[in-house]
Amino acid sequence: MSIDFTGEPEKRALTTAAYVPEDEGEFSLRPKTLGEYIGQEKAKNNLKVYIEAAKRRGEALDHVLLHGPPGLGKTTLARIIANELGVHIQTTSGPAIEKPRDLAALLTNLNDNDVLFVDEIHRMNRTVEEILYPAMEDKEIDIILGQGPSANSIRLPLKNFTLIGATTRSGQLSAPLRDRFGVILKLELYTPDELREIVERSAGLLGIRIDRGGAEEIARRSRGTPRIANRILKRVRDFAEICADGIITKSVADDALNRMEIDALGLDSVDRKLLMSIITHYGGGPVGLDTLAATINEETVTIEDVYEPFLMQQGFLTRTPRGRCAARLAYEHLGLPWGNEDADQLSFDR
Ligand SMILES: Nc1ncnc2c1ncn2[C@@H]1O[C@H](COP(=O)(O)OP(=O)(O)OP(=O)(O)O)[C@@H](O)[C@H]1O
Ligand SMILES: [Mg+2]
Repeated sequence: MSIDFTGEPEKRALTTAAYVPEDEGEFSLRPKTLGEYIGQEKAKNNLKVYIEAAKRRGEALDHVLLHGPPGLGKTTLARIIANELGVHIQTTSGPAIEKPRDLAALLTNLNDNDVLFVDEIHRMNRTVEEILYPAMEDKEIDIILGQGPSANSIRLPLKNFTLIGATTRSGQLSAPLRDRFGVILKLELYTPDELREIVERSAGLLGIRIDRGGAEEIARRSRGTPRIANRILKRVRDFAEICADGIITKSVADDALNRMEIDALGLDSVDRKLLMSIITHYGGGPVGLDTLAATINEETVTIEDVYEPFLMQQGFLTRTPRGRCAARLAYEHLGLPWGNEDADQLSFDR
């Protein structure tokens, strides 16, 4: 494998190749300090200590892996870490780094103690990943100058840096990569109370008028996910402005959410279709993920990453070695008769 640094124009192209710009839409709502970041107390408290310790020693923070379902605040937290450390952050993503030299360009551009944030790190390809091992562990990379017989391998020292990796699927990370992270933080779905605070904060920033009942209603029906809460807030505001007097109250929120087909417990049409399909087509389960995905016409990854975490956390769905099962609560919620004692036993065995 060669990382060729000889061609000057090439090098210029490289420095921007794997750079991923900020998503502007969410930028204004992203908290910028740990103090503003609501919830995730466990992860936050530990991070505070690690950041303070690294700062006192004047060292780079150890490499951090953030994992958890989409929209829980991994990207936000990565930015906050860099901000709290008072260092620059360079952002990229696994699939954006196509060649080892793209990664080498990013790494050699870092200053002392800077953060390199790699989103979707599980989607990095193997040859790129192998460059990362010595970079993370020994702060150096091997690069090859020139081509053919005259090619020369040299070892290039890197500045001290912190790699922050984010992933929705930590299980897909290779063991050698995972082992090189000193700090591994799992983000959890938010409680309704935490989400209410997030909704109130976002409403304040966006100049949206909302009362406590309205914020609670949105929070309760946002699948434990800040991104969804913020999205729903903006849509409910539209309803409040056009169909009511502009203030989001509990009843305005309830009405708007019903019109968006988000039910009283926060399930959307895909959630219901998924549960309904397990019950009506597969007798409540167990049914394999691939079969289920084909039946409801969704990607398996989407089911695993987006739908299942919330359905399992709420007790609608269980995962067994033989497949997915609808729990009693799913039958009750969908108004179907429960007669599956086996499934009761299965979920109990888990
Ligand atoms: N703890 C929090 N407090 C307040 N707002 C938050 C918090 N976490 C996330 N948000 C909001 O939710 C939005 C989504 O967060 P973010 O983009 O960081 O999620 P993510 O975990 O990186 O998602 P993905 O896996 O899809 O990349 C952000 O725009 C931010 O405004
Ligand atoms: Mg993200």
